[in-house]
Amino acid sequence: HVYRASTTAPVNIAVIKYWGKRDPRLNLPTNSSLSVTLSQSDLRTHTTASCSPSFSPPDTLLLNAQPQPLSDARSQACLTSLRALRSALESTDPSLPPLSSYPLRLSSANNFPTAAGLASSAAGFAALVRAIADLYQLPQSPTELSLIARQGSGSACRSLLGGYVAWDQGTLLDGTDSKARLVAPRSHWPEMRALILVVSAEKKGVSSTTGMQTTVQTSPMFQTRATQVVPRAMREMETAIAGKDFPGFAKITMRESNSFHATCLDTDPPIFYLNDVSRAAIKGVEAVNEKAGRIAAAYTFDAGPNCVVYYLEEDGDVVAGAFKTVLGEKEGWTGEQGKAVKGAE
Ligand code: DP6
Repeated sequence: HVYRASTTAPVNIAVIKYWGKRDPRLNLPTNSSLSVTLSQSDLRTHTTASCSPSFSPPDTLLLNAQPQPLSDARSQACLTSLRALRSALESTDPSLPPLSSYPLRLSSANNFPTAAGLASSAAGFAALVRAIADLYQLPQSPTELSLIARQGSGSACRSLLGGYVAWDQGTLLDGTDSKARLVAPRSHWPEMRALILVVSAEKKGVSSTTGMQTTVQTSPMFQTRATQVVPRAMREMETAIAGKDFPGFAKITMRESNSFHATCLDTDPPIFYLNDVSRAAIKGVEAVNEKAGRIAAAYTFDAGPNCVVYYLEEDGDVVAGAFKTVLGEKEGWTGEQGKAVKGAE
């Protein structure tokens, strides 16, 4: 008999960025962060988890049909935690089949480019944890599961709740208070939209894991960002979301993306995630806002050159239309490279 569960997890794009670990093994961050969850239909990872006494060890993972190693410490941390929870269930109820002892077969597929700075690890680990939790019929809440997903990839802890999600950095050494918190469900502000301008679908140069550790070690600006800039931005952002204040949300989002990339530039050696096309996208958003005479759009960039533009549904024509004309002709913005992926929510 083969036991099976399938699930999807959405991409989340941070408006307050996680950048820096105080504990690299447990993925404990040096600052809290906050993200908006994108629509499942547009950007998501789909994962099937199965297990059976007839499977031979070891556990295996296919990502977009390619075999991937599962022996890394992060994947192992997730699998060990989930097996321990299942095993605890099995010991209280001996009628349950001993799924925790069976080898796992995991199969994941993204509907967007992997590792192009499109937060693929976030959706990937969130879907992996959710799929195995479903397979094991675990009673844990999404917030409790976020503690496990965090150990796979920090940003993954924000992909389990949907809507507007904070990751509170926590203070405990064991990380049990470093988890996701729902700031507002999607229904609170359902008019929010995201347009993803795919500047490059290539794998990024410096991984976030490596980049943020170099920043922590070498950037003089980093300390101020982690202890002053981000805590203030978190407070202001929660207020903006609570009041559905788009200009406030947009200003904090853009300032925060710029602070994060300034810190990358302040790293030794400097880390450049933005390129000329990214900078053209920033100009494009500024042009949209100037033309509208108000703040109708906000840009943000993760650890890569792709631009995410947040806007409200009512401004869909103004924003999406502008990007066709403002950026349509630019070099590096045509054909495959110029693909704009729409992520609603
Ligand atoms: C710039 O979550 O990919 O996207 O914990 O090492 O896996 P690891 O890092 P990861 O870093 C994401 C960094 C970011 C900002 C963010 O999503 O908050």
